[in-house]
Amino acid sequence: MSEVSQTTLNNAPSRYIEKFDLHTGAVIDEEIKPEQLLVHAHRDFHFMDFEARRIMSRIVRTTGDREKARDKVRRMRQWGYRMTDRLARVIGKQKAEKVAKVLLGLKHHDYHYRFKSLPVTGAEAEKRIQQLRQDTQAQFAKTIVDGKPALRVLLTGGTGFIGQEIIWQAAHDAAVVEMVILIRPKDVIDRQTGQVVRTISPAERGAELLHRLWLETPEQQAKFRFVAGDIEQPMLGIAPDELSRLERTLTHVVHCAASVSFDDTYEATYQSNVTGTLNALAFSVHLQNVPDSPFVEHIGIETSYIHGRQMREPSQEDAMVFPSNYYNNYYELTKAMASIETETCMLMQGLRVLQLCPAIVIGKLRTGDNRGDTKVVNAPINMFGRIHETQADSHSSMAQRSIAGLMARLACVFPADPGAQLNLITVDWVADGILAALHHPEAVGERIHLAADKRLTPKAMGRIFKEELGLSIHLVEPTLFRTLLLPVFVGALNLFRQSKQANALGKLATLFGGYAEWDQPIHEVGKDLEVLKMQGPRPDMEYAFRMLCRHNLYIQHFGQVRDLNEISRREKLWKGFIDELEQRTGRQVGDISAEEFHKEAAAHLEFVE
Ligand SMILES: NC(=O)c1ccc[n+]([C@@H]2O[C@H](COP(=O)([O-])OP(=O)(O)OC[C@H]3O[C@@H](n4cnc5c(N)ncnc54)[C@H](OP(=O)(O)O)[C@@H]3O)[C@@H](O)[C@H]2O)c1
Repeated sequence: MSEVSQTTLNNAPSRYIEKFDLHTGAVIDEEIKPEQLLVHAHRDFHFMDFEARRIMSRIVRTTGDREKARDKVRRMRQWGYRMTDRLARVIGKQKAEKVAKVLLGLKHHDYHYRFKSLPVTGAEAEKRIQQLRQDTQAQFAKTIVDGKPALRVLLTGGTGFIGQEIIWQAAHDAAVVEMVILIRPKDVIDRQTGQVVRTISPAERGAELLHRLWLETPEQQAKFRFVAGDIEQPMLGIAPDELSRLERTLTHVVHCAASVSFDDTYEATYQSNVTGTLNALAFSVHLQNVPDSPFVEHIGIETSYIHGRQMREPSQEDAMVFPSNYYNNYYELTKAMASIETETCMLMQGLRVLQLCPAIVIGKLRTGDNRGDTKVVNAPINMFGRIHETQADSHSSMAQRSIAGLMARLACVFPADPGAQLNLITVDWVADGILAALHHPEAVGERIHLAADKRLTPKAMGRIFKEELGLSIHLVEPTLFRTLLLPVFVGALNLFRQSKQANALGKLATLFGGYAEWDQPIHEVGKDLEVLKMQGPRPDMEYAFRMLCRHNLYIQHFGQVRDLNEISRREKLWKGFIDELEQRTGRQVGDISAEEFHKEAAAHLEFVE
């Protein structure tokens, strides 16, 4: 078998998922294509579908009752089916179904998908997990030196948004005596020619990283070591002599590296997220099986969106069912597959493993610090902020400002249901959870959500945006936006030769619109406090979002300051400014009004023009 067909075979969704008949429950033996598992494949196929979504959204907005909305649409569909039956008696079944499909958009959904059962379930699975918990606690006890744990952790994804916060917190956790960070070389590409100008070695990347994290004392430097590797390679691509050193020393593996891209192909995302996870798991199994190994446990970083668009029931921490409304993108789908691989490895190979599942992660609660991250929620904040700045820029010409004004009106329409509940969480809470996991071996076998208990609505985000940045965002029902307004807006922006903005708007709406619709999943929380013993309350996301807006304005200049060294320099001054302001006013910085805060920033932050 060729290498290509081997890959195609191995990453087939049918490895994890089966299609089944909704009436009989029998498995339908058909190829499952990855795109069939995404929400886009199942909607906007007919005007009536579009109308049904609009009605549901309106009911939820006016009554706040999600069940009522579903019931109304269910009754509409039942009415449609009754009509089809009557029609069938007159013109024949097949013809009637065709008419119903064309006129009413009624498709007979007599199948759905489900995850295949794990090889071990129920009491036997519970028995194995209990045993693993006991073993983990026994292993953890061996790490105690002079009454304190001495942990040696391998971290993947250390250069990423969450990884950097893990390093920062580990630097201040005395129990972590060594952190080994797996890092790959990085090519610097000339933007104009597309050629590789130079390659930054893992050692250089590591040194830069510690510098940017302000970890420069000899003790801090001594705690961190960088090893070359790649999660897509067997044994994480670690050199043999390094591997034998790690076999004798490592107590924990934290697997955090992944591809967090919402628009990559299935194959590429699978390679990073599932093959990468399989390699990390195999690496940990290897460590665990070395005779007299100090290895305690493997901690896998997943996402609470492994539950996809599960809207019927709140998504539970210890159960994963195939989402009733599919997945938003291949990122979510492959992270769910990675979670199944992790669970299987635990049950079948006896790996001591814990899974942590953060919601959508934003900057730190108190400062909004995100170390230059521009992904996910930062993208719309930065885009709106930039548009606002062009509009307000007194140096731009009249023509530029008129175009900017028009663009602002077009682009500040955002697809979101005002009442949708967004599942956000701050990066410091997530890293806090990961560090807590190192201290709680009894958590092995669990899957724990790291999410907020009070979710943020687009309405609240719009209000904060207006207060902080003075820009009004008009929220438009996502289905209407996606199917009608977006093509018009993109066309108009292109007409004004604003193709960059047109692309950005199109991309934003397609990639993130799905996270602001009314039917967002609710991720149950509880084990963060109960099992990991994290100190509540969970972060207040309105506060965190306000600080993120301020941060992205002053530190990132809405994505225009991209030099990570400059961002690091600014974040250091920013923290000092916030500390001083809170001390002087006796108030928390997020409780200081936007107007007062901006005045203070203008007076005291040296990099504010
Ligand atoms: N950000 C969120 O909102 C969010 C939410 C829930 C869960 N998560 C999960 O949290 C984890 C970290 O997310 P993040 O936001 O920190 O991601 P990120 O900023 O995109 O960082 C990804 C990290 O993975 C590394 N990486 C990717 N492919 C690699 C490979 N082949 N070999 C070695 N390293 C590789 C990257 O290294 P390079 O620097 O070399 O590229 C980088 O350090 C992921 O597992 C993600 O699924 C994130």
